Amino acid sequence: MAYSEKVIDHYENPRNVGAFDKNDPTVATGMVGAPACGDVMRLQLKINDDGVIEDAKFKTYGCGSAIASSSLVTEWVKGKSIDEATTITNTDIAQELALPPVKIHCSILAEDAIKAAVNDYKSKQNS
Ligand code: FES
Ligand code: FES
Repeated sequence: MAYSEKVIDHYENPRNVGAFDKNDPTVATGMVGAPACGDVMRLQLKINDDGVIEDAKFKTYGCGSAIASSSLVTEWVKGKSIDEATTITNTDIAQELALPPVKIHCSILAEDAIKAAVNDYKSKQNS
């Protein structure tokens, strides 16, 4: 199966790979796995006092589409509020990357990772 040019670009030049200190109170971590294939994605968001995402990093153990989806998402969430970030859907990601149907679950992983990170942030705020 051929990957789209955008997938190849993100796969060969992934943006924002890495990690923040998960004990930093301004860092939210979302870790999700895809039951379909066993791939794992970790997305971290650095969130300021106004609830705006200042920076994002990811580490994905998975296929090219999963890496591209998470790379794309780190670019999209920067400068967004956490509420805006949770409106990003897997459909947006799949369209941008022109993912074929069998790779849709890779984009779902990225959507779920955003939601997991935001939930982590909210639970840290309440603790
Ligand atoms: Fe093997 Fe996603 S199915 S990397
Ligand atoms: Fe499973 Fe891409 S995340 S094949």
